[in-house]
Amino acid sequence: LALPLTDTLGRPLRELRISVTDRCNFRCPYCMPAEVFGPNYPYLPRHAQLHFDEIVRLARLFLGQGVRKIRLTGGEPLLRPQLETLIAQLALLRTPEGQAVELTLTTNGTLLARKAAALRKAGLQRLTVSLDALDDAIFTRMNGVGFAVSEVLAGLTAAQAAGFTGTKVNMVVQRGVNEQDVLAMAQHFRGTGITLRLIEYMDVGQSNGWHMAAVVPNSELIARLQAVLPLVPLAPHHPGETAQRWGWANAQGQHDPTQGEIGLISSVTQAFCHTCNRARLAADGQVFTCLFASQGYDLRALLRGGADDTTLNEAIAQLWQGRHDRYSALRTPSASVRGPAVYPLHRIEMGYIGG
Ligand code: GTP
Ligand code: 5AD
Ligand code: SF4
Ligand code: SF4
Repeated sequence: LALPLTDTLGRPLRELRISVTDRCNFRCPYCMPAEVFGPNYPYLPRHAQLHFDEIVRLARLFLGQGVRKIRLTGGEPLLRPQLETLIAQLALLRTPEGQAVELTLTTNGTLLARKAAALRKAGLQRLTVSLDALDDAIFTRMNGVGFAVSEVLAGLTAAQAAGFTGTKVNMVVQRGVNEQDVLAMAQHFRGTGITLRLIEYMDVGQSNGWHMAAVVPNSELIARLQAVLPLVPLAPHHPGETAQRWGWANAQGQHDPTQGEIGLISSVTQAFCHTCNRARLAADGQVFTCLFASQGYDLRALLRGGADDTTLNEAIAQLWQGRHDRYSALRTPSASVRGPAVYPLHRIEMGYIGG
């Protein structure tokens, strides 16, 4: 078998995003609106979730098929009890070339002040923290539970104290909601070693009532920022990167690395499906080949049915080799909330698949 696996559009399998829980302590209206995700929402029962040994086994097989980077997500991944135990086990995995896997985590930061040191000790390499505003009035509305900005900032400080470098902050920008805070966010994180990333609001799931008018195209955003801030475009680090990079420039107009950079994730207006190398494993062991998929492939059934590694490997290979997903590339700018006609209306929720 030639490695890495490639799909029908020639895209390699390189990254595995593992959701470890479908629960979250936030109710961001763009992801888990409180009206939909109420007290009676049918979250996955514990027995439906993959155990750590099941996750580690699948991760090991995915590494054998070309995966080089693992990102833990949720819901909110730090709500999963003993997550550091899973991280320690994943950190021991090696690629066929004997390399450690790049191990990262995306979190809302609420539990970070408490957990940063343990995560670091367990072998987590990098962190991405979601933070949609610096202004408390905006942020409390955007997280849906009244959580204060200062607590997320305290989480970021704890992460730095624990030795994390290369930390990123994700800001989902919505027209008329938090776009006025982008400039303050950019200035706040300048020179801190933390990379701010501005993300176009996406039509994931079917609960958030997404509409194109709520998206601020990143071309518009960068033009606005460049009018007042010294930002210059940077070359991509590697193919398949989600973000376009912009660096803070010095007086000569050259990138000043001490000031850091900003990332623009333009998933709506400049889709990056042509380089998409990500598979997504949900907390219940369903694997998805696109964020906008409506159906997953049930690896848990195989695992718990006693399948051996060869059988599991064949299932993964077949799935990736048959993959043709490119949802965002097919959604035209004028498309409604329905998305491209070739995709059925039912779409999985962000909180379940982890972004
Ligand atoms: P880095 O390793 O730091 O580059 O992380 P990342 O950008 O791959 O992941 P992160 O979890 O920080 O996600 C950033 C934003 O990009 C989120 O809004 C994700 O939902 C979105 N995103 C990540 N991967 C994909 C993808 O394959 N397709 C689409 N449409 N959006 C994605
Ligand atoms: N559009 C864009 N980004 C989203 N995220 C959650 N929902 C959406 C959406 N509808 C982001 C989170 C987190 C990342 C994994 O995905 O803010 O930072
Ligand atoms: Fe918000 Fe992330 Fe929780 Fe979704 S998973 S509700 S984006 S904090
Ligand atoms: Fe990949 Fe699907 Fe996102 Fe396109 S829309 S980048 S195929 S996950």
